[in-house]
Amino acid sequence: MAFVLTSWQTPPAHPDLAGHEVHLWRFPLVYHQSLEALLDEQELQRARRLRVPQKAQAFVAARARLRQILAGYLGCAPESLRFEYGAAGKPMLAGGMADTLAFNLAHSGRWGLCAVTKGVEVGVDIERVDKPLDFEKLAAGFFSRNERDRLEASGRPRRRRLFFRIWTRKEAWLKGKGGGFSDPDQDIGPAHLAGTCTHDGTWWLRSFPVARHYLAALAVPQEFSHLQRWNG
Ligand SMILES: CC(C)(COP(=O)(O)OP(=O)(O)OC[C@H]1O[C@@H](n2cnc3c(N)ncnc32)[C@H](O)[C@@H]1OP(=O)(O)O)[C@@H](O)C(=O)NCCC(=O)NCCS
Repeated sequence: MAFVLTSWQTPPAHPDLAGHEVHLWRFPLVYHQSLEALLDEQELQRARRLRVPQKAQAFVAARARLRQILAGYLGCAPESLRFEYGAAGKPMLAGGMADTLAFNLAHSGRWGLCAVTKGVEVGVDIERVDKPLDFEKLAAGFFSRNERDRLEASGRPRRRRLFFRIWTRKEAWLKGKGGGFSDPDQDIGPAHLAGTCTHDGTWWLRSFPVARHYLAALAVPQEFSHLQRWNG
């Protein structure tokens, strides 16, 4: 795919987003109590239900930053945004706004990642790749036959990295479709198992690092010509 991929840049206060663009925002997950004022009651209740304080704080930090980012495009106050949720929990802007501005959010460890498009479905995933993890057990549980074969065909030293590459792509693609665990089609297919940017006739998938030890993937169901990356 011939497209412009920018380095991570400082964004303007109100970034312009064209129909052929995807904007990717990376931001450190920094919690402060004052951020809770940006969230709505449903979000605050969800934060309260998260028993592990770090998880609750990461949730608040990510939702607050997401609201600030989206508000920058829409020229409104972050706390005025309203979300609605797909059947499997995918958040989107409420009141028909999802056709104007679509987004997807992911967070892992110290980083958050958000993709924004002009109404085109989008999915992102980010994973910290240096955490202790029995990745072969996870692959046995979640990967399709195709995906497991690809992993097993790779040499041992590369296998862990390849696992995360497939995992993040699969998650980004599932999140793009909005289905998650409930989606009956969980196999990303052979076209997406090699290369950093792949296409299967509908979905474009792209892998990229976000920071040291953090790998991410983006999924969009149409060609785009400009992938703009912002430091949020
Ligand atoms: C929620 C889910 C979609 C992603 O979970 P995760 O990897 O733990 O978390 P991520 O940081 O990537 O994404 C979480 C964010 O995705 C968004 N999200 C939630 N449900 C979503 C859905 N069904 N579709 C798209 N996005 C969703 C939310 O913004 C959520 O963050 P928030 O609730 O804090 O706002 C997950 O539960 C899931 O179903 N994953 C795919 C299932 C699977 O088969 N995974 C293994 C194969 S690789």
